[in-house]
Amino acid sequence: MEQKRKATLTLDNGGQPLEFPIMSGSMGPDVVDIRTLHAKSGVFTYDPGFLSTASSSSKITFIDGDKGILLYRGYPIEQLAKRCDFMEVCYLLMNGELPTRSEKASFDKTIKEHTMVHEQLARFYTGFRRDAHPMAVMVGVVGALSAFYHDAMDISDASHRELSAFRLVAKLPTITAMTYKYNIGQPFIYPRNNLTYAENFMHMMFATPAEEYKPNPVLARALDRILILHADHEQNASTSTVRLAGSSGANPFACISAGIACLWGPAHGGANEACLNMLEEIGDDSRIGEYIDRAKDKNDPFRLVGFGHRVYKNFDPRAKLMRETCHEVLSELGLHDDRLFKLALKLEKIALEDEYFISRKLYPNVDFYSGIVQRALGIPVSMFTAIFTMARTVGWIAQWSEMISDPDYKIGRPRQLYTGAVTRDVVPIALRK
Ligand code: CMC
Repeated sequence: MEQKRKATLTLDNGGQPLEFPIMSGSMGPDVVDIRTLHAKSGVFTYDPGFLSTASSSSKITFIDGDKGILLYRGYPIEQLAKRCDFMEVCYLLMNGELPTRSEKASFDKTIKEHTMVHEQLARFYTGFRRDAHPMAVMVGVVGALSAFYHDAMDISDASHRELSAFRLVAKLPTITAMTYKYNIGQPFIYPRNNLTYAENFMHMMFATPAEEYKPNPVLARALDRILILHADHEQNASTSTVRLAGSSGANPFACISAGIACLWGPAHGGANEACLNMLEEIGDDSRIGEYIDRAKDKNDPFRLVGFGHRVYKNFDPRAKLMRETCHEVLSELGLHDDRLFKLALKLEKIALEDEYFISRKLYPNVDFYSGIVQRALGIPVSMFTAIFTMARTVGWIAQWSEMISDPDYKIGRPRQLYTGAVTRDVVPIALRK
């Protein structure tokens, strides 16, 4: 990182101007390094929601939200989605380079060797109500992995970190499918190592001991693409949660569970589920106008879910690819006339032409289309965010590992602007009213 220029800050306290180095990354905005600000001046910066704060440096993912660019390790998402499978993308995120053919074969094999979960872990499920939300179960079961892999783990050892990453990437489809099977009261289906990652997941979701499941290549490819597009997204809320939890040296499986909890929220990974629920609520073409009006009304908290993004103020490049996949899947399954899909496509058209959405750069986001694709694949709406979890796990663990291997990393500890009561004395209870 270059550090040539300086930024000067003058505080209104008669002191000397303070100088701070400006750091440049390989792409993207420069940052002002204010690490010494408090020591030099006694003040903190104030940035709730991290609107202007880079919380870390990273070599993994780059986003230019204004231009609609997303790169994993420098490679455009469009090329990765069209030329690679999810396993290659996992290897890339974890190792920094795309695998050679032999590295890919060995990586595939390693992941397949870790797909089964400890039988004792399966018993955790029975502690949950069958109607528990899948994300509640995922938070619990993935967190519970820390009880299976803790004592033998040394997070300062790169090979231990890598093994944790293999385990997480390999076991997440098994855990996710088990969550679904438990919910619908069917027996768990064991992984099959002759299938691809996406096919195996669909097999564990849809096969039963009584009935084989034959993966449809168009649908498996669509799922693989969902996984690629959701694999990482730099320092978003859940990734920052994983980093913050990990910064204390906590167990990585527990840190990933913290990330899952954060992803669950409707402003983040819960959006695809909330979007399908919204479509159900709208129910019919004739009510779209009413909902668009509500979304525009500042006195109504309703927002059009699946539209807008904190970072992309242009078409989200993932949404473009997901839209393409969405049409492929609807054609393959002959679903273009399905009530909800027709409604979604009409909503998309109206919002893209409406001045309110155009002027605020509120484009359909990836979750708008991925919800539609997942519904077409037969995945129930309540499982959508769990699928996102399965995809994002590799990004979380790559980011966690990058942080732990950085010799300069420190425990994350934000400061605050205190606005509570000033110092006062406690009146003993006997003297209070
Ligand atoms: N419907 C209606 N108005 C909206 C919407 C929406 N979906 N999103 C933003 N706006 C308006 C907002 O009211 C504000 O208007 P004004 O300038 O007149 O006050 C303007 O657009 C800017 O909004 P903001 O709240 O400052 O934008 P933000 O960057 O803080 O919020 C967001 C981003 C994703 C939370 C928001 O767009 C939203 O709530 N979208 C719906 C939920 C959703 O789809 N979330 C998934 C995001 S992608 C998943 C991921 O990557 O994890």
